[in-house]
Amino acid sequence: MLNVGFIGWRGMVGSVLMERMRAERDFDSIDATFFTTSNVGGSGPDVGQGTKKLVDAKDLDALSKHAVLVSCQGGDYTSEVYPKLRSLGWTGYFIDAASTLRMNDDAVLILDPVNLDVIQNGLSKGLKTYVGPNCTVSLMLMAISGLFRASLVEWLSSMTYQAASGAGAANMRELALQMQHIGRVTGDLLASPSSSALAIERAIADAVRSPDFPTKEFGAPLATSLIPWIDKPVDLGQTKEEWKGFAETNKILSTPQPIPVDGLCVRVGSMRCHAQGLTIKLKRNAPLDEIESLIRGSNEWVKWVPNDKAATLRDLSPAAISGTLTVPVGRVRKMRLGEEFLAVFTVGDQLLWGAAEPLRRMLLILRRHLNV
Ligand code: HSE
Repeated sequence: MLNVGFIGWRGMVGSVLMERMRAERDFDSIDATFFTTSNVGGSGPDVGQGTKKLVDAKDLDALSKHAVLVSCQGGDYTSEVYPKLRSLGWTGYFIDAASTLRMNDDAVLILDPVNLDVIQNGLSKGLKTYVGPNCTVSLMLMAISGLFRASLVEWLSSMTYQAASGAGAANMRELALQMQHIGRVTGDLLASPSSSALAIERAIADAVRSPDFPTKEFGAPLATSLIPWIDKPVDLGQTKEEWKGFAETNKILSTPQPIPVDGLCVRVGSMRCHAQGLTIKLKRNAPLDEIESLIRGSNEWVKWVPNDKAATLRDLSPAAISGTLTVPVGRVRKMRLGEEFLAVFTVGDQLLWGAAEPLRRMLLILRRHLNV
């Protein structure tokens, strides 16, 4: 049995991780300890092994008894605890959902349907730190890794449509509260079939601009609007989310020569699925049937969506795939910019492939590697 400690299993990503691990019966071969930052000594969850008491997540001695630690507790926890564990000589595997360690030389970014070779190379070199990548980058690579694998991508621009969940649980709640508020102020108008669309729009515009509108988390209205800024500013006028596109894509793929990746990241009013419109400069004028077969071959979760209205409306949206591992890829066509310019649209569940799924799959890879 693999001896694994879980930290941050009750938060949003942690809960999705637990749900997936239960569904796949991953706990059958894991001896699990659950840590807590707030309820030491309380009862842990029963994952099929009876309940054990929750252990203090800051107890370095208890943590270091584990061969593997999985943290969904967030960056502050990793920054505080990880260096202490390593300096005490702990040589176990640390699997983390937070971004803190991602760019460390001794950390491997994990997205095994895309970079199993890079992960296996890390394991054979004895690396012990495995970090889930940024959700937007993971979902883009899940969609089109076949094109990267075929060395077809000269550069890529990703314009994103990112869900509230990427900002956190409180933000998801705030988006729903904003929608509720809009429902209230438009209730009477909508009840009357003769009220005009412009009157409804005016009521909504007044509501979202009023000081009563709930914007504490986002800092701006999101329902009926959008926010073209995610995370903090970095150099070149980029946001950190935009910076990750280049840095993490190249690290995940372990590219010998960096492939330029850039675009604008935008928060929209979907709950847990990120979408992206990609402009891809191909290295050669590959025909569309070759592109289709490379995209279809990216992995078993990609769902090819023909470039027509009915299929797009049915399959290529957050509403269609929320809560599933399916990664639809559609609107694929050559652009008027030239034969080597490809348009692609893709959607993915930000909490599954974008967060929890690569972590649980890393545990399976580790079990095979350690032969336990
Ligand atoms: N940073 C992402 C977002 C989510 O804000 O949507 C986590 O990767």
